[in-house]
Amino acid sequence: MDTAVVSNEEFLATVAEKSDGAALRGDYSAADAQYVVKQNWAAYTEEEHALWRRLYKRQEALVPGRACDEFITALAALKASDGIPDFEKTSEALEKATGWRIVAVPGLIPEQAFFNHLANRRFPVTVWLRTPAEFDYIVEPDVFHDYFGHVPLLFDPVFADHMQEYGKGGLKAMKLGGLDYLARLYWYTVEFGLIESPQGLRVYGAGILSSGGELEYCLKNTPSRHIPLNVERCMRTLYKIDSYQETYFVIRDFKQLFEDTAPDFTPMYERLKQVEALPANTLLPGERDLLAGS
Ligand code: PHE
Ligand code: FE
Repeated sequence: MDTAVVSNEEFLATVAEKSDGAALRGDYSAADAQYVVKQNWAAYTEEEHALWRRLYKRQEALVPGRACDEFITALAALKASDGIPDFEKTSEALEKATGWRIVAVPGLIPEQAFFNHLANRRFPVTVWLRTPAEFDYIVEPDVFHDYFGHVPLLFDPVFADHMQEYGKGGLKAMKLGGLDYLARLYWYTVEFGLIESPQGLRVYGAGILSSGGELEYCLKNTPSRHIPLNVERCMRTLYKIDSYQETYFVIRDFKQLFEDTAPDFTPMYERLKQVEALPANTLLPGERDLLAGS
């Protein structure tokens, strides 16, 4: 993939192709060159705020004993239970804590714009909320996934630094043909990652934290695997986008995530290009499910 900025039309065409012709849902007409829009908080309806409260309540009840402590503490401090939050207020608090801000976007945005935001400590959050029919399951990320799932951990200094490094690494991977590998790492860590705690495994991945079903499922002893994160192994592993994950990668702490992703990935990408990807449910010789027998 080259690093030229794709036009709006090219971007929308690519996404339409990927999702079987279904159009992207957001309104991209008002977006600037970095795909940023105004949140227009006053325009959310009372029905939308009410749906947010229902989503929030369900997840909030599941979080104790499942989400990592860093997430639980930051979520409580956000005071976002009453309705869709005003991004400006969140940005002010976040900027004080870790120097990050959130920016409103119409939905999925091109990789280059996404990485560029992260590399500059800006997290893109979709402005629109799912419909009530999508209470349990939604294909595209909406404001509930992006905000509830991703924003709390941006208050953690180490995780926040990691996200910026990931953004820089994305821009670099675009030039090295490494995007597919880096996307798998993001998927299995930032979206679906588990973390050890003295009390047992906990969740830090936003895709799980914003999901009613998977937040319960992922910590049980099921056919899905729970294995320690090895970066190269993870980048070799295919993932599921339409079912619960068949493998969860577990980190010891955010420092490990930061340090294990710090080395230059160039030689790793070259090695990965030489080998077949592993199916999502692979257990390699010597690997053991951390929850087996529990
Ligand atoms: N260290 C990676 C590289 O050199 C970049 C990166 C950092 C990727 C953090 C992911 C997370 O390409
Ligand atoms: Fe996400």
